[in-house]
Amino acid sequence: MKEKSTEIINKSAQSHTLSEDEIAELLKAGDASLLFKTSDAVRKKYLGEEVHLRALIEFSNYCKQNCVYCGLRRDNARLNRYRIEPEDIIRLAKKAKGYGYKTVVLQSGEDPYYTTEKMVKIISEIKKLDIALTLSIGEKTYGQYKAFRDAGADRYLLRIETTDEELYAKYDPGMSLENRKKCLENIKSLGYETGSGILVGLPGQTVESIAKDILYLKFIPVDMAGIGPFIYNPDTPIYEISGEESKDEQLNKKNNFELSLRVMAILRLLMPDINIPATTAMETINCNGRITALQSGANVVMPNATEGDYRKFYEIYPGKICVSESPAHCRLCITNKINSIGRSVCKHKGFHKRAV
Ligand code: SAM
Ligand code: SF4
Ligand code: FES
Repeated sequence: MKEKSTEIINKSAQSHTLSEDEIAELLKAGDASLLFKTSDAVRKKYLGEEVHLRALIEFSNYCKQNCVYCGLRRDNARLNRYRIEPEDIIRLAKKAKGYGYKTVVLQSGEDPYYTTEKMVKIISEIKKLDIALTLSIGEKTYGQYKAFRDAGADRYLLRIETTDEELYAKYDPGMSLENRKKCLENIKSLGYETGSGILVGLPGQTVESIAKDILYLKFIPVDMAGIGPFIYNPDTPIYEISGEESKDEQLNKKNNFELSLRVMAILRLLMPDINIPATTAMETINCNGRITALQSGANVVMPNATEGDYRKFYEIYPGKICVSESPAHCRLCITNKINSIGRSVCKHKGFHKRAV
């Protein structure tokens, strides 16, 4: 078994290809240290030691969707809802630039309050700051994606979450996998740097299904892949709907962290030059999660640049890191952590440069 996975890892580090069965093999339990070490070496070879920082502004936690796993789902009456007004979003973006960020990411639930006109105004004002702009605001029409792109948005992040029809139908009621894929096609065709990704560890998800997800991300092909370990939120009905039992919480966290790292490392082998963030969810379930991820293939971090109580109210899942800290604190904290492992913060916008 061990020899088999060593062979697969060494082959893919050169060819950047893997079959579905080979991916499933690497996802299965067993020592993953060679996988992590190899993906770190591939990251170093193609991207060097620089880490890109993206300032995350979580501007609204209202959502018209009802994804079963997510704390922002519309039926979650326990969440304190907020919206940041357009002029204040622009102000936060200016502050983020002041902290030295070269990219701002605007993220929210699917909130119709922000009409196309409002978003276009926000985007054009932020683009005057000469920074890169990523949107992560969910499913929109082709016309809306085009209007945002024309206004200057550079990147769009829309996770596919899972490519498993059955899981998708169960966990994303009222939405469809087909439309999610269509949205990603539209985003790609409009020339955005296209970011997607998956949730890892959803109840009922198998390594075979994750292997298909990974190949889908390569098929798009994505410029950025964000891998989130699923974190159980007790304000959501996920276990009622999945029909599974909520298992030991600590064990779930450990398993989902380790599996997410594997997914990330495999993506690095398959797509050696793309941007891969060490995600906030990884650090939420493992106190050294982002650094471990940066040492296992990741090259991006998305520190929080939202201010005050809003951070706490953007509660996708419980225990989210950085809820009491200021944007200035997080900027310094993450820079120190990155420097402590001999890496440095990139001073440029960090667009995806294709090398293969
Ligand atoms: N509404 C937009 C969307 O869905 O694309 C952007 C905001 S949404 C909160 C961002 C991401 O949060 C989703 O793509 C999903 O993968 C992640 N997420 C939701 N619930 C989660 C959970 N319980 N654990 C980990 N990540 C979760
Ligand atoms: Fe809304 Fe996004 Fe959460 Fe789904 S994942 S409920 S679309 S915020
Ligand atoms: Fe926010 Fe460290 S990055 S406290």
